Amino acid sequence: MSDIRIATPEDQVLLDKEAKYCSYGDTVHYIEPPRIFSRCEGSYVWDTEDQAYLDLQMWYSAVNFGYANPRLNNALKKQIDTLPQIASQYLHKGKIELSEMIAVDAKNKFGLDGRVHFNVGGSQSIEDSLKVVRNASNGKSLMFAFEGGYHGRTLGASSITSSFRYRRRYGHFGERANFIPFPYHFRGPKGMTKEEYGSHCVQQFARLFETEYNGVWDPKTNQCEYAAFYVEPIQGTGGYVIPPMNFYRELKHVLDQHGILMVSDEIQMGFYRTGKLWSIEHFDVQPDVIVFGKALTNGLNPLGGIWAREELINPTVFPPGSTHSTFASNPLGTAVGLEMFKMTSEVDYGAMVMAKGKYFLEGLQDLQKRFPIIGDVDGLGLALRCEICGPDGFTPDKATLDYMVEEGMKGDMVVDGQKLGLILDVGGYYKNVITLAPSLEISYPEIDLGLKLLEQLLVRATKR
Ligand SMILES: Cc1ncc(COP(=O)(O)O)c(C=O)c1O
Repeated sequence: MSDIRIATPEDQVLLDKEAKYCSYGDTVHYIEPPRIFSRCEGSYVWDTEDQAYLDLQMWYSAVNFGYANPRLNNALKKQIDTLPQIASQYLHKGKIELSEMIAVDAKNKFGLDGRVHFNVGGSQSIEDSLKVVRNASNGKSLMFAFEGGYHGRTLGASSITSSFRYRRRYGHFGERANFIPFPYHFRGPKGMTKEEYGSHCVQQFARLFETEYNGVWDPKTNQCEYAAFYVEPIQGTGGYVIPPMNFYRELKHVLDQHGILMVSDEIQMGFYRTGKLWSIEHFDVQPDVIVFGKALTNGLNPLGGIWAREELINPTVFPPGSTHSTFASNPLGTAVGLEMFKMTSEVDYGAMVMAKGKYFLEGLQDLQKRFPIIGDVDGLGLALRCEICGPDGFTPDKATLDYMVEEGMKGDMVVDGQKLGLILDVGGYYKNVITLAPSLEISYPEIDLGLKLLEQLLVRATKR
């Protein structure tokens, strides 16, 4: 690691100040020394020495439409010059039109009337959804969620996020969720197809409702102790794990039988990451609540929110003030969100993302054939995974992936005479999965470039 990219003298001054004045608690601080960036465009970011890095994680999928997307940036600039700020108790056009777009789309896709509600950030929107489902179930506070699930780090969201790591120091508010196994086929029991394993997971879950002694169900009153099941249709932080296509249909059947709501957390997989507006659309089920954030504004504004069925969120049951926050439905955020919806409705984003995703996945499959340390590759749209393992192609190898990420950040790889770095994100239960979330605007030559850079990192990792 001796030749890891060292900060410039100017950067060092800033880093010394950061070490003294900045909390580390609001960051992940994965890279040592932390890198300082000065500009971004498309699929690239540049550091203070003007070294370019191809970004294959796009701010954890918050920047789906490319850095500094001109159309979305212009929507923000235009809003700054018209109505940049107004308290949430007063109305503005952008909020209403954006809500309409989301609600009409949901009606068309799921056949359900519903309303849209805004807040700031993903975790805060998860908090709001917890209020919606608790309220709709007469105050039930227990939730199901998945092993490997991530819903944010506020105290309520922490209680339905499976990692104890995030709760260890701070505890959590609300009861800890009942965490149910997710059909992670690559690491599931041998001898079952992906679909069989999906059905098996649902059958294991359904066992909880067999008798009153399984602890969640009162057959005498037909009441469940749990209000909702929080799902990430494709697990994000859990390693871009794609369940079998039969899974949610079968799960929803069990939930419907027992009056349990399904909340689809689309914060990371929403806005065409998987080739659909909402990733749950791949699975032929009707969610009761959808939670969104991140790419709604392409990372330009922390607007997030929820869509919920009319029965759960109409003003009689969920009146003004239920979750209000000062910056909820702020006009800069809604202006960008609205423009994003217009932009994605003008071309067939779904088809474009699926085609690029297929091409990228084929490239990963080719790398897998040549590098035994790649245990698994998979993808849905442009949510792609590449699992780094030992030579047996199965034992998780976090150390090798950490090495690859650091090597990518050196910015010293050369492809066709161009010196480049590569930004990767690490996820998965064993922190050995490259979770690839490239810009949806990435070009085919840029996908080829990304694959060549990955190949160089794999060669370095194999030779180390
Ligand atoms: C699926 C999912 N839910 C919730 C969150 C929390 O969102 P935020 O970081 O905006 O609070 C994230 C963030 O990564 C996420 O991926």
